[in-house]
This record gives sequence, C-alpha cells and structure tokens, in this order.
Amino acid sequence: MANAQQPLVGLVGWRGMVGSVLMDRMQSEGDFGLIEPVFFSTSNAGGKAPAQARNEGTLKDAHDIEALRKCDIILTCQGGDYTSEVFPKLRAAGWAGHWIDAASTLRMNDDAVIVLDPVNLPVIQNALAKGGKNWIGGNCTVSCMLMGVGALYKAGLVEWMTSMTYQAASGGGAQHMRELLTQFGTLNAEVRNLLDDPKSAILEIDRKVLAKQQGLSDGEIANFGAPLGGSLIPWIDKDLGIGKSPDEAGWGMSKEEWKGGAETNKILGQGAGFGTVATPVDGFCVRIGAMRCHSQALTFKLKKDVPTVDLEALIAADNAWVKVVPNTREATVKELTPVAVTGTMSIPVGRIRKLAMGPEYVGAFTVGDQLLWGAAEPLRRMLRILLEA
Ligand code: HSE
Repeated sequence: MANAQQPLVGLVGWRGMVGSVLMDRMQSEGDFGLIEPVFFSTSNAGGKAPAQARNEGTLKDAHDIEALRKCDIILTCQGGDYTSEVFPKLRAAGWAGHWIDAASTLRMNDDAVIVLDPVNLPVIQNALAKGGKNWIGGNCTVSCMLMGVGALYKAGLVEWMTSMTYQAASGGGAQHMRELLTQFGTLNAEVRNLLDDPKSAILEIDRKVLAKQQGLSDGEIANFGAPLGGSLIPWIDKDLGIGKSPDEAGWGMSKEEWKGGAETNKILGQGAGFGTVATPVDGFCVRIGAMRCHSQALTFKLKKDVPTVDLEALIAADNAWVKVVPNTREATVKELTPVAVTGTMSIPVGRIRKLAMGPEYVGAFTVGDQLLWGAAEPLRRMLRILLEA
C-alpha cells in the first residue's frame, strides 16, 4: 500500500461464523501486525473492540459511511444484505478503497474478481494492474474444488466436468448446524431404549426413526425446510427457473449448481466475460448431514488420454495444500472424509481413476473445510496481496 503508516482495515461481520474463522486465521498468520484494524458492528456500535484492536478500541457503526470511508480496505463477512445496502452508498460517496467480501452479491459483476489466489493469482494481478478494487470470495464448493483439481484446468486438460456435491450443514449457516445436531439428538432419544437393548429389532428402530423424521414439526426443520438428520436434501439455494423446456441445458437448475459453472469459469478467467469459451461444469448439489466440510465426486472428460500417475503428479504439485490420497480403501476411509479434514487447511483429492466410459474419462473425489478454503482463507490472502502490492 502507498500509505507510510499501516493501512486502516475495516472489519465487518467478524463475530459471525465465517468472521470468527477469519479472525482466528488472521491471528495465526500474524495479519494484525501489518494493519491498523478498525472493528465495525451492525448492532453494538460504541462497544469495546476485540483484543486485536490497537488504536481504535471502540466498535464503529457498520452503517456509518463517513467512518467506513476512512478505511483503506474493508473486509466484510457480514452477508449479502449488508453488502447490497452499504457498498453502493460507499462507492457513491467517492470511496476508492479496496472492498474484500465473503458474500456472493457482487461476485459476478464485471468489475469484481473472485479471489482464490493459489488458483487465479494472474487474474487477480491483472485486475489489480487495471485498478481493480472489488475482491469477492467464491462459492465455498467451487473454491474447495479448484484448490483440489485446479491443476487440470490450468493444464488445459478439461473438456467438461460434472460435480456431484455432498455439502455440509455449515454452508447454510450456524443455525443450520444447530438444527442438524438437534435432529440427530431427537432421533437418538426416540430409540435410545431400543438401542441399549441388543436384542431389539432393527426394523422397529427404523420404523420409529422414520415416524419421528416424518413427524418433525415446522420449528424442527425451520432452516433446511426438510429433515436432514438421517436423510439428505438434493437441492441447495434458490430455484433459478432458467430455461424454457426440460430439454434445454440449465432448465431446473439450482442456484448452487449454476454457481458451479459460472464461478469456476470466472475464477479461471475464462468464458464470456473474458472473450473466451467457457468450460462446461454442471452437476447436482446435495445437502448431507456433515458439519462443515463439503465433499464432491467429480467426473472429468479430458481433452486427451493422460496416464493416471501423470494426473496425480499434476494435482499434487499444484499448491501447498492439495494432497493426493492413494486410491485404496485404507487411505480413503482414513484421509478422505469430512471428519478427517475439518479444521485443517488440507484439500485431499482421492479416488482418482479412469472410468469405464473410456480413457479420457476420469473420476476423483475431494473434501474441503468450507469455512477455511471455502470462505475465510481466500479473503485474508487477498488482504495480504493488497498489503504487499
Ligand atoms: N452456498 C453454500 C452452501 C455456502 O449452501 O453450502 C457457501 O458458498
């Protein structure tokens, strides 16, 4: 940054789930030593700022445009409604600082870059050189997927890809995680006596669980809209209502599925906005009862037949966090699960194998913590890029 002093960085939404993960990561990586943080709040202006504050010990009002305007950089995890309300006012007031945002609101704008620097540093640098100011974190599923298999795209090998996702409750938010766990508890309580009796009949347990699941009240499924404990929900986010007929690509697509294709291409700097051809990426997004790791089964049609060992080597060499898991039962059940990956920066990619359709068809499975690489990490890394620019 041009400032002789440390740049003033406004932090908004730092207390929520993504914000808290971000604060932890910034603390671990020493980011607070490089900035003058100013903490904003939508509900507690005037309150005490957290321990990381130095000169600005009081929480500022997150809707105070004058206070926000003083910041060189604003980093927000406050959510899309906040972005929609405040960002246009701030720019209209002439603010020319850098806006780093976890929300999807601005993602597809022409003047916004979806940031995932281990994958798209050249796209970020190109935008910076042209005066770019809006840096938006990507959809969690897309970011985790590209951290895992971005190498195949960078090598120009992908003709198309399908992604069938297994997305954790945390993608919906903190309340969704609580709802899932409460459902698990309710179901367990319903059959606890039978479970304790080794002679009880499993089909009776199953009948009771199903009756409980089907009888959950509106309040018990308020966040997901359907039971998730012991079940799954094959729809995430809005119904886009794209297309005119069931025979048209895009028809009946969920917004999460649309993001898979749109954001993958935008992150890679390809597609209509870049005057190039987009790589088709499509599939089904499914909510499952995991806590905070999104998993994905990927199918690639490659442009040519590449030996599996070469694909593994390409993937493994791409960045410091991706890890190729050998395609064995033992390694897979140990290393390629949400429980193994949660809370780590590791992005394992396993089950890499040629599929029965032909030598250009390759399958893979990947897992990533959707609060780390899926949300917080690309934002703090973008902050570092700006600080070093
Ligand atoms: N839309 C994602 C999900 C969350 O619902 O899992 C983060 O992009």
